[in-house]
Amino acid sequence: MTTYQLEVIENTAKKDKPAQDQIPFGQTFTDHMYIMEYQTDKGWHEPKIVPYGPISLDPAAMIFHYGQTVFEGMKAYHTEDGRVLLFRPEKNFERLNLSSERLSIPPIDEDLALEHLKQLIKLEKDWVPKTPGTSLYIRPYIISTDANLAVGPSSTYKYMVILSPVGSYFPGGLQPVVIHVEDKFTRAVKGGTGMAKTAGNYSSGYQAQANAKKEGNADVLWLDGVEKRYIEEVGSMNIFFKIDGEVFTPELNGSILKGITRMSIIELLNSWGIPVTEKRMAIDELYEAYQAGKVEEVFGTGTAAVISPVGELNWQGQKMIINNHEIGELSQKLYDTITGIQTGKVEDTLDWTVEIN
Ligand code: COI
Repeated sequence: MTTYQLEVIENTAKKDKPAQDQIPFGQTFTDHMYIMEYQTDKGWHEPKIVPYGPISLDPAAMIFHYGQTVFEGMKAYHTEDGRVLLFRPEKNFERLNLSSERLSIPPIDEDLALEHLKQLIKLEKDWVPKTPGTSLYIRPYIISTDANLAVGPSSTYKYMVILSPVGSYFPGGLQPVVIHVEDKFTRAVKGGTGMAKTAGNYSSGYQAQANAKKEGNADVLWLDGVEKRYIEEVGSMNIFFKIDGEVFTPELNGSILKGITRMSIIELLNSWGIPVTEKRMAIDELYEAYQAGKVEEVFGTGTAAVISPVGELNWQGQKMIINNHEIGELSQKLYDTITGIQTGKVEDTLDWTVEIN
């Protein structure tokens, strides 16, 4: 179909690449980006790879007013033998469409999106950093563009992909982070948008995060919005607990993000014969287990965060110091295995990686 023909406009003014030792998360962007338009009568059309740069939008564009937008986060990794791999990219496009459904945004063709992403990354191959712990972060997103202040879904959208070479998400690399358990503000409730990757879920957490940071915490752990008792997720990652030899994570209940790293960790642990119990987990019960000396490890999982060990949880003035602020054995093994698969160092027996060629 002609409207799906990918047009490529090369950037003739290439930028310098950043030094790879300390790349801050999400602040540097590559030379090209991808844009595809949507219009009700035409569907998704005119896919293009163009030089990275500002786009022009009407000040009344609906994205600015009612936040009808969704996004994804994925990564491309360099292998030692010079290949570039994606990690389960089909799961991201599947989730993008799930988020879009919740936000009344028309779905994209998942196969086409993956095909075009591969072409974009092929063009930007030199931007995939090679230093251990680095990768090319991929941010696909859709914005609503009708110039219209009436509340309701837009009839035009832009689907875009931008790329950013990154190091670790939390400054300090694979070091255990300190997390505040939030018991005042709410991230999501059942029936809301918690399971979708949409902008408002993140910006509505800034106030709580700012308060937590003032007290020396890196992020917040959200509790359920009704009873403020059941553990949900951290601002940028899902969360796992190793308690008395067993691994637990909050069950997906409609207000927790269906993390792809979360899913992969569960599958990986299962493949090692370690079951993961997905259940409703109360913070007071976690605290009791902590007081009984049973909480062995806590770690977050996410595309950006990878595996981030948690060294301390602060809940209502009580400190839970986890594994003496040290990286736990299981967290380290999971980090090594998942990053090993992603970078081609560990055999991909679960068939998760997709090579760009
Ligand atoms: C990711 O892990 O890719 C995310 O989207 C989390 C984030 C908001 C940085």
